[in-house]
Amino acid sequence: NQIYIGVDLGGTNIKVGICDEQGKLLQTLEGPTGAENGAEAVIERIAQQVRQIVEESPFEWEQVAGIGAGLAGFMDIPEGFVKFSPNLQWHNVPAKKILETLLGKTVKIDNDANVAALGEAWAGAGAGIPNVVCYTLGTGVGGGIIINGKIYQGSAGMAGELGHMSVVPDIEAIQCGCGQMGCLETVSSATGIVRMAKEAVERGERTSLALHEKIEAKHVFDAAKSGDEVSLRIVNRAAYYLGRSMAAMAVIVNPKRFIIGGGVSKAGEILFQPIRETFKKYTPETAGEGVEIVAATLGNDAGVVGAAGLNLR
Ligand code: BGC
Ligand code: NA
Ligand code: ZN
Repeated sequence: NQIYIGVDLGGTNIKVGICDEQGKLLQTLEGPTGAENGAEAVIERIAQQVRQIVEESPFEWEQVAGIGAGLAGFMDIPEGFVKFSPNLQWHNVPAKKILETLLGKTVKIDNDANVAALGEAWAGAGAGIPNVVCYTLGTGVGGGIIINGKIYQGSAGMAGELGHMSVVPDIEAIQCGCGQMGCLETVSSATGIVRMAKEAVERGERTSLALHEKIEAKHVFDAAKSGDEVSLRIVNRAAYYLGRSMAAMAVIVNPKRFIIGGGVSKAGEILFQPIRETFKKYTPETAGEGVEIVAATLGNDAGVVGAAGLNLR
C-alpha cells in the first residue's frame, strides 16, 4: 500500500494528514505554526510533523509515495518558493528545497488556499463540478480557482490570491499585510473582523463586544446573531466585500459554485445571506443565474486532503 501525505500550513496551525490512494484521509496531526520563530523553524516543524505522523501510523516511511504542501503566501511554484507571505511575513523562502532536503523525498508545493480548493473540488462541496471558486476565510483571506477540475495556478502560482483583490474604496481603505490598500483581506478575514470590532469598541460605540477582554471573530458573529447593531454592521461589511469580489469573479471565471471555507465560514447564514444578496445585486442577471454560494464541507481537512491530492490528481 502506498500513502500520500498532505501538509496544510496556515497562519496559525500546521496540519498534516495521511491519505490513501483514493484520497481518503486516514490520520491527521496538528500543531501550532509558531510563525514568530521564522521561516526555517516553521519548515523544520513541518518536516518533523510529517515524520512523526508516519511513525505514529501503521505505515512505513517507504510507503510514502508522495508529499504535497499547501503554504500560505504568494507562490513561485516552478521555482519552489514562497515569494511573499503577508501573514507569516516570509520573503523568498525556498520551501520546496528545504523540505526535500529535510525529508529526502520529492515534495510538491502550492498555495494553502489553492490546495483547500482542490480538496473541496475533489471530495467536498465542489465534488463533480468542474469549475468552482473557493474562498478560505481565516487569519487571511485565501482563494482558489478550479478550472476543469484543476487548480488554475497562473504563470507562477499566484492566481487565486483573492484576498488581495482591492475592493474597498480609497476613502475607507486601510493598508493590508501585503502592502496594498483596500484588499478584501482587510475586511473579510478573521483578523479584519477583529480589527473592526476593536476599533468600534475604542471609539466608544455601544456594543456587547466591549465585554470581551480579547475579541475573536466568533464573538462578533455571536453578538450579531443576538442583534448587536455594531456587530451586524461589521459582519455585513465583511460579507458585502466578499459578495462584490464574487460578482467580479463570476464574470471572469463563470464558476458554477462559490465555496466558502475556513474558520470564519462557520458563522453560517448570518454571513452567507448578505453575501448572496450583494452577489445578486452586483452580478449581471445572466451571469449570476444558477450560481450557488455554499459552505465548504471538508472543514479543516480540505487543505491536507488537497495537498495530498497534488500527487494524486
Ligand atoms: C495570502 C494567501 C493565503 C491566504 C490564506 C493571504 O494573505 O496572500 O497566499 O492563501 O492568506 O492563508
Ligand atoms: Na490561492
Ligand atoms: Zn493585500
